[in-house]
Amino acid sequence: MLANCGIYIMHTDKLTVNIAPKAGFGYDIFIGSGISSKIKEFLKEKTSANKFLVVTNETIYRLYKNSVDFGENADFVILKDGEEHKNFESLQIIINAAIEHKLERRDCFVAFGGGVIGDITGFAAAVYLRGVDFVQIPTTLLAQVDSSVGGKVAINHEKGKNLIGAFYQPKFVLADTDFLKTLDMRQLKTGLGEVLKYAFIEKSCACPLNYRFFDFLHAHKSEIFELKPSVMAGLINICCTLKASVVAQDEREKGLRAILNFGHTFAHAIETLTNYKRFTHGEAVAAGIKMAMRLGLEEKTVDEDYVRAADELIAKYGLDIALPAFDSAEFIEAMTLDKKADNSKIRFIVPDGDFLVKMVSDVPREKILRVLE
Ligand code: NAD
Ligand code: GLY
Repeated sequence: MLANCGIYIMHTDKLTVNIAPKAGFGYDIFIGSGISSKIKEFLKEKTSANKFLVVTNETIYRLYKNSVDFGENADFVILKDGEEHKNFESLQIIINAAIEHKLERRDCFVAFGGGVIGDITGFAAAVYLRGVDFVQIPTTLLAQVDSSVGGKVAINHEKGKNLIGAFYQPKFVLADTDFLKTLDMRQLKTGLGEVLKYAFIEKSCACPLNYRFFDFLHAHKSEIFELKPSVMAGLINICCTLKASVVAQDEREKGLRAILNFGHTFAHAIETLTNYKRFTHGEAVAAGIKMAMRLGLEEKTVDEDYVRAADELIAKYGLDIALPAFDSAEFIEAMTLDKKADNSKIRFIVPDGDFLVKMVSDVPREKILRVLE
C-alpha cells in the first residue's frame, strides 16, 4: 500500500484512484490479460445499472463483437472511426440512442475503445440526464496508460481540440492488455509516446515507486514490443499509479496536474500546424518532450547529459521523429492559442533534473526561438 499519495494498491492488478476533495469517492482500475472475459460480471457487481449503452466504433466492433460479451442488458452505439468524429454529431448520436433505449439515471454508459471513444462517451455520460455513470474499457495503449484515467472528457470544436468538455470520473476502468495485440505498430508507438512522458515526470508525481520508471523502460523494451502480458500490466500499472497520484491531488488542473502535459505545449503546436494528419499524438508528444528538454537547457534546469539520456530513450523506442521546418512565428502563435496558455502567456513544463519537472511561464522569446531552430 502506498500511503500519502491518494493511491492504494491492493493487488498488483488493481489500483484505486481517490479524488482528494471528494472524501470517500474513488474508483478502481483493473489491469490484466484476459480480464475482459469478465466484463459482464464487473458491470453487474460494480454498477447499479439495469441497462448499459456500449459506445464503440466500427473498427473495434468488427474486431471484438464476437469475443467480448457485455450481457443481455447492453445496447450498442457504433460510431465512425477517427478523431474527426469526436464532435457534436457523435454526441447527438449517443444521446439519441440513450433516449431511444430509455436509459435512466441509474443506468450506465460503457466506453469501449481508444481515447476518442473514452473522451466522447465520458462527455455524453456527464450531460445525459445531468449525469449518468460511465465505465472505461480502454483498448489502445494510449487510453490504458493515460486517457481512461483522470476524468478529462471532451469533444472537439471546429476551432480546436477538446474545447467542450468536463471533469467527470468513470465508475471503474478495466484495461485488458490482450486488446493491445490487434493494434498496429504506429498505434502502439503513439501510446509509448505518453508512456515515455511518465519517465521524465515521475518524481514530480509525488508517489514513490520502488524503482525508476526510466530504468524499467530501458530494461524491458523488447518485452514491451512483444506485448509480454506481465510487463505490459506492470507498465500500465506504473503509468496509472503516477497519473492517479497527480489526479488525486489536483483533479481540476489548478496546479500540479499541468505536469501531465510535459511535452504537450510543443506537441499541440506540431499537431495544429500539420492539421492533425501527419503525426499521431504520441509521436508529437515524443518530439515535444525533446523540445521541452532543450528548453530545459536554455533555462539551465538540466545539463547536456540529462538531455542526451532522454534523447537516447526516445530513440530506443523508435520515437525520434523528423519534424518539418516550421515557421517559428507560426509555431509560437500556435502555442499561444493552446487552451493551456494563461493570459496569452505560454506555459511550459520543463525538466528540472532527476525526473522532476516544473512549470515556467515567462520564457523569453529568444530562448523559444533557439529551441525551435
Ligand atoms: P483512437 O481512439 O482514435 O484510437 C486509435 C485507432 O486505433 C483508431 O483507429 C481505433 O479505432 C483503433 N483501435 C482502438 N483500439 C484498437 C484495438 N484494440 N485494436 C486495433 N485498433 C484499435 O486514439 P487514441 O490514441 O487511443 O486516443 C487519442 C484521443 O485521446 C484524442 O482524442 C486525445 O485528445 C484523447 N486523449 C485524452 C486524454 C484524457 O486525459 N482524456 C489524454 C490523452 C489523449
Ligand atoms: N492527459 C493529461 C491529463 O489528463 O491531465
